[in-house]
Amino acid sequence: MEPTRFLSGKTSTLCFDTASGGEILYWGAKLSSSQAAKAALSRAVPYGRLDADTPVSLMAENGRGLFGSPGIEGHRDGRHWSPVFTLTRIEETAEGWHIESEDRAAGLQIATQLLFDGDNDVIKMRHRLTNTGVGVYELTRLAVTLPLPERASECLSFYGRWVYEFQQHRHSVQHGGYQQENRRGRTSHQHYPALIAGTPGFGESHGEVWGAHLAWSGNHRLRIDVKADGRRVLQAEALYVPGEIVLQTGEHINTPWLYATWSNRGLNGMSQQFHRHIRQHLLAFTPDQPRQVHLNTWEGIYFDHDPQYIMQMATEAARMGVERFIIDDGWFIGRNDDKAALGDWFVDESKYPQGLEPVIAHVLEQGMTFGLWVEPEMISKNSRLYRQHPDWLLQLSDYQQPTGRNQYVLDLSNDEVFSYLFERLDTLLSRYAISYLKWDMNREVVQPGHQERPAQTRQVERLYALMAALRAKHPTVDIESCAAGGGRIDYEILRHVQRFWPSDNNDALERQAIQRGFSYFFPPEVMGAHIGARKSHSTRRVSDIHFRGITALFGHMGIELDPLQASEEDKAGFSRYVELYKQHRQLIHQGTLYRLEGDDPKAQSLTAIVSADRRRALVAVAQLAMPTWALSGTLRLQGLDPQTSYRVRVIDAADNFRSGIVSTQPAWVEDGVELSGEWLEHAGLAMPVLDPESAILLLVEAQP
Ligand code: GLA
Repeated sequence: MEPTRFLSGKTSTLCFDTASGGEILYWGAKLSSSQAAKAALSRAVPYGRLDADTPVSLMAENGRGLFGSPGIEGHRDGRHWSPVFTLTRIEETAEGWHIESEDRAAGLQIATQLLFDGDNDVIKMRHRLTNTGVGVYELTRLAVTLPLPERASECLSFYGRWVYEFQQHRHSVQHGGYQQENRRGRTSHQHYPALIAGTPGFGESHGEVWGAHLAWSGNHRLRIDVKADGRRVLQAEALYVPGEIVLQTGEHINTPWLYATWSNRGLNGMSQQFHRHIRQHLLAFTPDQPRQVHLNTWEGIYFDHDPQYIMQMATEAARMGVERFIIDDGWFIGRNDDKAALGDWFVDESKYPQGLEPVIAHVLEQGMTFGLWVEPEMISKNSRLYRQHPDWLLQLSDYQQPTGRNQYVLDLSNDEVFSYLFERLDTLLSRYAISYLKWDMNREVVQPGHQERPAQTRQVERLYALMAALRAKHPTVDIESCAAGGGRIDYEILRHVQRFWPSDNNDALERQAIQRGFSYFFPPEVMGAHIGARKSHSTRRVSDIHFRGITALFGHMGIELDPLQASEEDKAGFSRYVELYKQHRQLIHQGTLYRLEGDDPKAQSLTAIVSADRRRALVAVAQLAMPTWALSGTLRLQGLDPQTSYRVRVIDAADNFRSGIVSTQPAWVEDGVELSGEWLEHAGLAMPVLDPESAILLLVEAQP
């Protein structure tokens, strides 16, 4: 076996040493392979430590003399609790490496897939553990471990809660480390499964960053540790409860996939690599399928469903240019509030005496497609389903678990539950012309028991299987992942869904922060972004139509209100932003996203999307708060061709843009200006002075 191996992409290289259980020796800027790699990077052995160097091997085994968090923990009736693996084989395929290791004494085998998308410099890695010994092996932890260099001493993670997702947390990791654990049974609002490490002060467009995302929609643990010798280690795993993973002889378990990328172009470089990888490898729709403008009824009518009124809403929606009309919660038997009926997925004939057919026919006549809200994993105690099958709950029968939004979770490991849900959803999709399901999941999971045994991991696997089975039978139906807003957003669920609902918060100001956080790992075309009511239902903040419209434009746009109750000004605004979205959605959904660095980052958020051929760009300048200074510096663009001449003009702004807290805006604002890409990147444009909570939209077009 060759001692060192290399994987190189467009900008990065990963160098792997096959000795010592397999160690990633180097992961950073692109290098030519070198025979001397091992000699160059073999570490000193200081006094006061073990007498031999300890690599951060693939499984990070304590038994090797590594004192940090190991990649595997478990035992076989009290034995084989400290395995040490020997690498036995590497097979190189077009996608990367398949690495096998084993511990014969412990009767354990590891198969590692270390795949590399060289076009986008994205690593995809997971381990499979097989019990090859005699007797059961009880596993408590199985993690993917990646070494990081000493200079990766700053970390960006995300925190949040309902209506406040994707908030950024910057911290320095000098000693000890940082750990986040999620035990909420879904990806969670609180502990988004991604971590970014970087060189001190890394920013949107500068610094080295190593970004990692764990593709898993259940419980998880992510950590960055600083070893006492200064090396940094990133580790990610699905989190198991005691007794959950018991492997019989011959059985195996996979870790979730860990996706990771390195960039020396800061966070934008990292995001662009992830976005491209997602577009090429994870999305189930193609660029020639434009993302339709939605109107979702939730904040418009809540549980108050009257088909005649809903049809009027649909007529008005179509007039504004909406392309897909979605009936949210409240359409099924007995669902008049959030206290009852989950599980009874039959149309409520007291509300819809002729079924959903007339409404759907009307929606289709208006030239729109139709979508429906469901929450399949849930059950209300006040439901027919519960009265018939009280034992279908995911629960431990000796305890009374708390409800969440008055509801309980169904046990998907129970085949009868699985079949019932498949039958109900399949029937709805077969009977009605439904092109989209908003798949919700509104509560956290407590005591996930199947026949008294822990079943949290299995619950998530069965959810994936249910979605996959439905998509296999109805391949053109789009699914949106919603979990009380952004509670289930990750790369694994993205293999089954085509859209995310990042937050129930449609307040444009809050959305600016939420959508920015979302953009680090996901491209705009999978981000539901709706124009909500003038007065936000989540915060009561009032925002004008321009700020709401420009904010919603940078995702998969929609509207979330009752258009019949909207003012004429708002309605005119909806039509305008729907039109702008249709004009520019190809650029927004296929272009390259830049979170621009401005001179007043506390008060402004700047986003640009540049077309792949660099001939067009759309730029949003969002003024979040009062400008810190009387002037806001310059707007410098990125991603343009330095030699090309571009025309830049303001294509949308609030009416008071020229008369708010400013008497005269910079000269270029009036009729636009023509400048080279080089100028726009380095000298830029004098920034207009904007009122707080307002935005302007610029179009940049290459001149012939
Ligand atoms: C959740 C979703 C909302 C809406 C309601 C319906 O809260 O996040 O968008 O669908 O459920 O009950």
